[in-house]
Amino acid sequence: MADHLQNIDLSEYPYINRGLEGIVAFSTTKSFIDGAKGELIYSGYNIDTLAENATFEEVCFLLWNDRLPDAGELNELNSRLQAERELPEVVLNYIRNTDKNSEPMAVLRTAVSMLQDFQPADAVDTDHAIAMTAKMPTIIAAFDRVRNGLDVVAPVKKGSTAFNFLYMLNGEEPGTASERTMDLCLVLHAEHGMNASTFTCRAVCSTESEIFSAVTAAIGSLKGPLHGGANTAVMNTLLKLKDDQGEGADPVAFTLSKLEKKEKIMGFGHRVYKVLDPRATHLRKMSKSLSDETGHEYLYNWSEAMVKTMKEEKNIDPNVDFFSATVYYSLGIVPDLYTCIFAMSRISGWTAHFFEQKENNRLIRPRALYVAEKNKPWIPAEKR
Ligand code: SDX
Repeated sequence: MADHLQNIDLSEYPYINRGLEGIVAFSTTKSFIDGAKGELIYSGYNIDTLAENATFEEVCFLLWNDRLPDAGELNELNSRLQAERELPEVVLNYIRNTDKNSEPMAVLRTAVSMLQDFQPADAVDTDHAIAMTAKMPTIIAAFDRVRNGLDVVAPVKKGSTAFNFLYMLNGEEPGTASERTMDLCLVLHAEHGMNASTFTCRAVCSTESEIFSAVTAAIGSLKGPLHGGANTAVMNTLLKLKDDQGEGADPVAFTLSKLEKKEKIMGFGHRVYKVLDPRATHLRKMSKSLSDETGHEYLYNWSEAMVKTMKEEKNIDPNVDFFSATVYYSLGIVPDLYTCIFAMSRISGWTAHFFEQKENNRLIRPRALYVAEKNKPWIPAEKR
């Protein structure tokens, strides 16, 4: 509890929930989370059903329309996304000229904000949502190519979001397995109720500001290591363990030492899930198979040892960020891009919630408990 609350009798204020824990602020059709059972539903469909059957583009349509598209609608959405993947020249020039050492999430935040200037005058929110969904992968891949001294690879007018992202990032067409893995990761990260970045998006929408400001703010929120930034932190933790102690490192001793120092282990714990995050189940399987295929078995074995230790010591389970890190690493993607991949998926959930907030808006404006003195006498500066 915050220091200044220590000497306050909070029993007088039963309605204070720090971090708005457990507070229901909206009704929504976008997702349902049962934290006790570890269940996640996107607009009527269980995440396991979607993981096994849906493409990311189908999930985008589902979240935007509260129903799955028919074949014609899906083709139309895919065509729209393919047509809009290229970036305005001014945005590409920003990416080419910004500091190569910039944080990818900061470049993504800035470039997405710039996109508003280049939208057609008659474009509406659904057009903006498609434009951002189509262009965010291009922004991320272009910056990574530029900072590595490589030519920017333009998107192709075919293939899925996952296909184009890996193609633009690596300069070669991905194999079917890699594309499907990336597509599944995009499905799993698309939507998750009132997480901090989605709440941020809705708060901006509630002032009747526009969708680019709402998404830019959400990107800033996702960037934090307590939220989407955790996947990058997980990978950096594992790679530091390897650098420090080699592949023979002891992940149990490492985990226990961090817990001893009261340090948080990134990729574990969740405000809502009190059992295993259902998304982690799918990512865990992918991490296992990919690390076997790519010679990173030790990373997967360390991960499972950390999972066991955290369960035994703190009864805490891994969240979506824990195994996604080793999945992306096994796909050959560098750690500081992982939160960007989270963002290029969550753009679908953010924009779906923007539409929902706008449909039935009420300004989001909670209260805070004032805990300082009141009406103090004025003392001139020379007498203070
Ligand atoms: C995401 O909200 C969403 O839906 C988010 C997300 C989405 O899809 O949008 O699911 C994505 O952001 C997942 C979370 C990624 N963040 C991390 O992995 C960072 C590490 N996790 C923790 O910081 C923490 O678990 C949070 C922030 C995720 C949740 O924190 P809470 O609900 O505020 O819980 P807390 O910090 O009060 O912890 C409760 C107890 C504490 O122990 P005590 O002090 O009571 O003894 O659990 C402990 C904490 O110390 N704890 C951890 C821990 N997480 C909680 N201890 C060690 N390592 C951890 N990771």
